[in-house]
Amino acid sequence: MVKKKIAVLTGAGVSAESGLGTFRDNGGLWDKYDPQEVASIDGYYRNRALVLEFYNLRRKELSGARPNSAHRDIAAMEEKNIVTVITQNVDNLHEKAGSTNVIHLHGELTKVRPEVGVYDDTFSEKEVIDVRYDEVNLGDKAPNGSQLRPHIVFFGEAVPKIDKAIDVIGDCDVLLIVGTSLSVYPAAGLYRYAKSDTPIYVIDPKDIPIRGGNIHHIKATATEGMQEFLKIIETLN
Ligand code: OAD
Repeated sequence: MVKKKIAVLTGAGVSAESGLGTFRDNGGLWDKYDPQEVASIDGYYRNRALVLEFYNLRRKELSGARPNSAHRDIAAMEEKNIVTVITQNVDNLHEKAGSTNVIHLHGELTKVRPEVGVYDDTFSEKEVIDVRYDEVNLGDKAPNGSQLRPHIVFFGEAVPKIDKAIDVIGDCDVLLIVGTSLSVYPAAGLYRYAKSDTPIYVIDPKDIPIRGGNIHHIKATATEGMQEFLKIIETLN
């Protein structure tokens, strides 16, 4: 049997049932914090201590979170298919659930890198440091002597892995989108790179902002929706 190439684009909603809040739902993170202050490159240079503290809190919260069955079901699809996860999430729950091929569009919470450095479009991975769930504060320096900063794509910065994501989506047989409001570009426009006959399934309990002949909305939470999707994928040839 030829394996299907499944691209899975995920957002904060896939981790909601693991206890990590989303950004734009009522009571979400952007109700409590101003993204221009804590998640933009200008905000970072205005007040590094505040931004480092925000990500220290996120890292601490993540240390207690476990993957849910949606993360596990996505990982389990690798048994019969070629699966690439493209996530906007900075958590590590896809990897913890067993996914082996994860593209982190917006960076990774458990990693930091020097503020000053030369980065190509995949980042200079050797300069990226895994701090797991430790705090990083003002004055914590990289081996090159510059301040350590979160390995996060801030608003106002380029998204280095977008080209890789475009290639994966352009080449996939099925595109699955889980738990994203599709409101932050360029990630929000990625689905347009799917071939016109590629079926697109979107799992989200709310109405979704995209429509089209080949777009199917599974109106459910990530864990419920994945159960449904696993049945659908068996019927697709
Ligand atoms: P949002 O908070 O914008 O959207 C979360 C989506 O998940 C919404 O469509 C919800 O309806 C849906 N949702 C909520 N609970 C769910 C559940 N249990 N199961 C499935 N879906 C659920 O989060 P993102 O779209 O991921 O970027 O946000 C994109 C980017 O904006 C983030 O990566 C982050 C943020 O600013 C940066 O910080 C650079």
